[in-house]
This record gives sequence, structure tokens and C-alpha cells, in this order.
Amino acid sequence: MTLSFPHRHLLDIERLSATEIELLLDRAAQFALQNRRPHKKSTQLQGRTVVNLFYENSTRTRTSFEIAAKRLGADVVNVPLEHSSVAKGETFLDTVLTLDAMQIDALVIRHNEEGIPQFIAPHVKAHVINAGDGKHEHPTQALLDALTLRRHKGKIAGLIVAICGDVAHSRVARSNAHLLTKLGAMVRMIAPAGYAQANFTKLGIECTDDLAKGIKDADAVMTLRIQHERIGGLEQTISQDDYVRDYRIDHHRLLRHAKPDVIVMHPGPTNRGVEITDELFEDPAHSVVREQVEMGVAVRMAVLDVLLNGTVS
Ligand code: CP
Repeated sequence: MTLSFPHRHLLDIERLSATEIELLLDRAAQFALQNRRPHKKSTQLQGRTVVNLFYENSTRTRTSFEIAAKRLGADVVNVPLEHSSVAKGETFLDTVLTLDAMQIDALVIRHNEEGIPQFIAPHVKAHVINAGDGKHEHPTQALLDALTLRRHKGKIAGLIVAICGDVAHSRVARSNAHLLTKLGAMVRMIAPAGYAQANFTKLGIECTDDLAKGIKDADAVMTLRIQHERIGGLEQTISQDDYVRDYRIDHHRLLRHAKPDVIVMHPGPTNRGVEITDELFEDPAHSVVREQVEMGVAVRMAVLDVLLNGTVS
């Protein structure tokens, strides 16, 4: 069966339907199998050009988009911003239009301002993929988290997923909030005062500053880093010692309150010993952080294939 995907760009999770999300996850699951074979390459994007334009640091997202595009046979260009004409005062939109004029097929963009991928999408012929815009959304992260969850729990509907940390400044929390609620999970946000986000209650998400209450009976606990780079000078902050005392996930807290087969997730980058103990981070009985990274390649292959080829088979 072949189904058409109705979106030209991947700008956020909020505008995707549950069916469209499931289609992307099903395609990604196929690529996850392909990626474990000795010969990993296929030809879906042969002759196409993917450009990575990252205005913010990245290890996982940028590298996995590059690997994903190459696995599908595309040519990939990573724009080195420090050596580009941005340094000579070229406007952001002129940079994007210059790249688009080179007949590229996809523009993968990360930017520290919310709404930048949505702003450029109407101006370009290329397919635009949001690789993280400020504290707004990080759609491919939520997709790879969902694929990892589905592999471990067999489903998303009915799961209790607790997201703990700086949810106010987290695009990962926002994209996961949309995706997990669309697919029928019960989501809880746990954050210290000053790091909570009232808007989540509109999605029916419970918010608490009590870690034990938040992770009670959870099937999955997702920990987040404090996003220091997105916190303004006047915002309330919590000391690292207080954060560790009240919110660091460890074996004792996890197994006292969550389900015995709970999985622990982290989008990375991780501050070991702050959000999560070293021992738990490295415990294969609960931690799925390396598998999340692996699924990131499969999800990005699915997104590139579906957007550029327009169908899901
Ligand atoms: N999770 C994530 O976006 O990681 P990077 O910042 O390394 O891409």
C-alpha cells in the first residue's frame, strides 16, 4: 500500500496528524532494520542534494541528518557558518535564498530563534526540515523518541511518560508533548519552579514540581538538561546542588516510584551526574539513550525519504 504524505516541509509536530506520525514511524522502523545490515545504503535519494544549515551547535542532529541522507544516496553539504558570507553581514534570508538558488532539494535548519523554519518555508523551493528552533520544537527528536518507546513498549497509547527537567526552555519537551498526546500517551511534566510551562496544561498534561509524584507508575522517564543558553538574566534559576538533590534521576528514585520495567531516556547532550547518575545512564536494563541516537538516523532517513519522494509505502 502506498500513501501520499500531504506536507512539503517538516516544521513541527503540532501540525501533523496521528496517522502521519505513525506513517513516519513505520517507515523509520524499516530503515532501522536496514541500518543494522552490513550493507546500509539504498538509492531513494540518489541525485538529490541535502544542505545542513546549523546556526546552533549540534552533535547528534547534524551528524545523523548527514548519515541519513548519505545512506539514501544523496549528496550532503554542511554549511560552515564561520567561513560563510554570514560573517560579512549577509542577511539570514539572503543566505537561505542563495543556497536555494543552487537547486538543492532539502534544507535542514537549526536556529536559536523560534519560528525560523516556518518563516523561510514559503520563500524556498527546497523542502525545509526543522532541526530545532529556539525553545519551540525539535520534531525529529520527538519522532526518534517515539520510535524508541514503541520498540520497547510495543505501543504509545496508554503509556505514562514523565518528562523531567527544564521543560520551560525545551523544544524537546514541546515536540514530545504534542506527539505523545496525539498518540494517546499520558504525559506528565516535572519541573522546578521557574522551569515549568503553563501552556502544557492545555494539552491535558499534568505538571508538578514533585519528582516522586511525577514518575509514579511511569513506563518511561525522559530527563532533560537545564538549557542555560536559553535562560534570560531575570529568570528564576535553581542551583545545581538543589537540582541534583530534588530532580536527579537515580536507581533508587526510579525503582521506588516508576514501573519495574521503566525505560530512561535523554535527548542529549547530557550533563552526567546532574540530570541522571552515571550508573543509571550506563545501565542497559533501563537506559535507552544509545538506542535513541541509533533511531535518530532511521527517523531522519524516513523524514527525508517521505518529504522528498512524497509517499510512504
Ligand atoms: N538532541 C539533540 O538535538 O542533540 P544535538 O544538540 O547534539 O543535535
